[in-house]
Amino acid sequence: MTLIMYKVFETVDDVSRYTAQRLIEKIKATPSAVLGLATGSTMEPVYAKLLEHIQQTPMDLSQLTTFNLDEYMGLNPQHPQSYNYYMYQHLFNQLDIPVNHVHLPNGLASDIEAVCSAYSDAIQTLGGLDLQLLGIGSNGHIGFNEPKTCFNSRTHVVKLSEQTRIDNGRFFAEQSEMPTHAITMGIQDILEAKEIILVATGRNKTDIMAQLFNSEIDEDLPASALKQHKNLTIVLDREAATLLPAQALKSAI
Ligand code: F6R
Repeated sequence: MTLIMYKVFETVDDVSRYTAQRLIEKIKATPSAVLGLATGSTMEPVYAKLLEHIQQTPMDLSQLTTFNLDEYMGLNPQHPQSYNYYMYQHLFNQLDIPVNHVHLPNGLASDIEAVCSAYSDAIQTLGGLDLQLLGIGSNGHIGFNEPKTCFNSRTHVVKLSEQTRIDNGRFFAEQSEMPTHAITMGIQDILEAKEIILVATGRNKTDIMAQLFNSEIDEDLPASALKQHKNLTIVLDREAATLLPAQALKSAI
């Protein structure tokens, strides 16, 4: 039996404080930790809390390494909707992590296959991810691993699903500007993280969290791969947890 720890909080603020605190604890315990990071609206308040904490209680981040999950293809790193830009805006510009310790897939690379395999290799060379932070798409994607992605996948190029293009198109001035493809860490890369924290908040995540709870491990629902993981915490606000049975909230599946 795999144990999934559910943590349900009343508000997004509480969710974000708890998640940031988990990151802080990891960095304190292992200053040379390798962190897997996510972007998206769920992570914005998490990173805000993390910064707030580090600004109040400075930490040495000189040994920390980060790998982001994904990046759109075809967007310049300075494009306001690129994940590179997001990470520098929300986190890296304010933190003293050495620039060569920060990794994001290069969505403009010409030899994409080489870039993808080098990305997964770089994670493994450093001994794997100590902690992977995840959001979840309304279709169950993790990173940009869309439904039907092989669970043994490594970093690869994906065609974004219609649902993801609708969900994320809201951030672009025109829906047509939303990229059709992205590079994402694979599900196998994610599963090899020693610890995983998946965060979901708001009404838009209520249905997928119920589906995830009820589903078998199935490639139609990428996040269900996480049910194989030995150290997974799912952090939810009350809204995202609305359809979860009381049994889930007692932590066992
Ligand atoms: C982003 C990522 C995605 C998001 C997911 C949820 O790096 O990996 O899987 O976590 O699309 O996005 P939000 O938080 O915007 O709902």
